[in-house]
Amino acid sequence: MPARVHSCAVLGLEGVLVEVEVDTTHGFGYIIVVGLPDTAVKESRERVRAAIKNIPVPFPRKSLIINLAPANVRKEGPAYDLPMAVGILITAGLIPSSAVEDLVIVGELSLDGSIRHTPGLLPMAAMAREKGFRGICVPAPDAAEAALIPDLEVLPVRSLTDLFWHLTGDQPISPYQQSSPRELPAIKAQTDFREIKGQEHVKRALEVAAAGNHNMLMNGPPGAGKTLLARSLPGIMPRMSIDEALDVTRIYSILDRLPSHTPLIQHRPFRAPHHTISHAGLVGGGTWPQPGEISLAHRGVLFLDEFPEFGRRVLEVLRQPLEDKAVTISRAQGSLTFPANFMLVAAMNPCPCGYYGDPVKTCTCSAAAITRYQKRLSGPILDRVDIQVSVPRVEFDKLTSDRLGEPSRAVRERVEKARQIQRERLAGSPRSANGDMIPHEIRQFCSLDQESLNLMRNALQQLGLSARAYHRVLKLSRTIADLAGAEDIATVHLAEALQYQPRGEL
Ligand SMILES: Nc1ncnc2c1ncn2[C@@H]1O[C@H](COP(=O)(O)OP(=O)(O)OP(=O)(O)O)[C@@H](O)[C@H]1O
Ligand SMILES: [Mg+2]
Repeated sequence: MPARVHSCAVLGLEGVLVEVEVDTTHGFGYIIVVGLPDTAVKESRERVRAAIKNIPVPFPRKSLIINLAPANVRKEGPAYDLPMAVGILITAGLIPSSAVEDLVIVGELSLDGSIRHTPGLLPMAAMAREKGFRGICVPAPDAAEAALIPDLEVLPVRSLTDLFWHLTGDQPISPYQQSSPRELPAIKAQTDFREIKGQEHVKRALEVAAAGNHNMLMNGPPGAGKTLLARSLPGIMPRMSIDEALDVTRIYSILDRLPSHTPLIQHRPFRAPHHTISHAGLVGGGTWPQPGEISLAHRGVLFLDEFPEFGRRVLEVLRQPLEDKAVTISRAQGSLTFPANFMLVAAMNPCPCGYYGDPVKTCTCSAAAITRYQKRLSGPILDRVDIQVSVPRVEFDKLTSDRLGEPSRAVRERVEKARQIQRERLAGSPRSANGDMIPHEIRQFCSLDQESLNLMRNALQQLGLSARAYHRVLKLSRTIADLAGAEDIATVHLAEALQYQPRGEL
């Protein structure tokens, strides 16, 4: 009977059960690993052999064959060291096989038998609970991360020797104890809204965007405060629920990018990649696909400053994820889907010199140069932007005034109230914000009265808006009504939503 130990692979963002089977075979003293292992897994043999030497038991003298099943799941990295070592010790009759029946075991071994940090523990622990295992043995540094999954015993393992004595029953390891937070804290942004002078209409647009998860584009001359305004956005974003935080943490966990001081990502991400970013860096990719910036921005903000500089090809790849709120990457080995429900916030100058339309400084660009610049943004991309606002230069009197505006905290409270209304309305739907609604939800929740219908009809004709724009305006009106605490969308709400629509040229 081969020894069987349960372990876990990560495929995309999901943990997949892997069985490590160890059996003796003909010959003397060698180890064969089969079942689609990558090079790092093959190297496990040497680490396992060295690590077992630290336990005061003789290494089995027979040759061993280790099979990682299912064979069609690629096993990456060194996470199978520990289950392999345990399997070998079971084969040698040193650990009872019943000791590992209801456990998942994951971890990389050092040559001295200590256990190293392993990425991706959160999806692995989630898999262990889903499949009904009692517990999971993890590297001690990763115990807090695995313990984010409730109702699962997490055993922090420091060394192979510790696990050996635990499994023989001589010296049990105490499970990791952690009280999970019920509510997450709000974040303090770099700049508080109250410090930003003037630009009241832009702040209002940011509030609407944050309240309904709407995409937004700011257009204005250099130094008007676009970057400053965007960077203040995290301060007014609604706090995440624990489930949202776990979703986000999963992505950072598999990329090994969790902050060292806390296992849970507590704040909505704010990602601001530079415009030189590659296609794969932005949406994800690689031979074994990895999430890109749009997934790192999941449930948060993707800020693309100097929007036209990103290059048309890079921006075009955003079209599908903006629509689907997820990105699918296909490879010969199969396709993987990563979540990418982010709020796109973009900033740009109206022309290469930056002063087109400025009342003070004259623009030095030729008409052709302006057109060329604006054409870098394709129609289909702009059609996915719910809110467009111009950010004019701040008047001197406003800039030098001592009057402080409304603090971010007060705005965030309104945003959170509006989100709560949306969550209740969309209960039962996988979506929770107006900006994410699909057509039948828009039809159900965004009806207009006769007066508003007339206004909409005129506006659509005058502004030349597309069918997508019609839905966009309805969703936006719903958010504006929610911010006002209104049951029905009224003409004032619709009128404000129409103000955020483009008028001809940018
Ligand atoms: N409304 C404002 N209130 C207070 N300070 C401001 C405001 N607008 C701009 N500033 C000041 O000007 C600096 C430059 O602003 P910011 O970088 O946001 O401009 P920008 O619109 O992004 O310009 P560019 O188009 O060149 O990127 C800010 O760091 C801030 O110090
Ligand atoms: Mg800027």
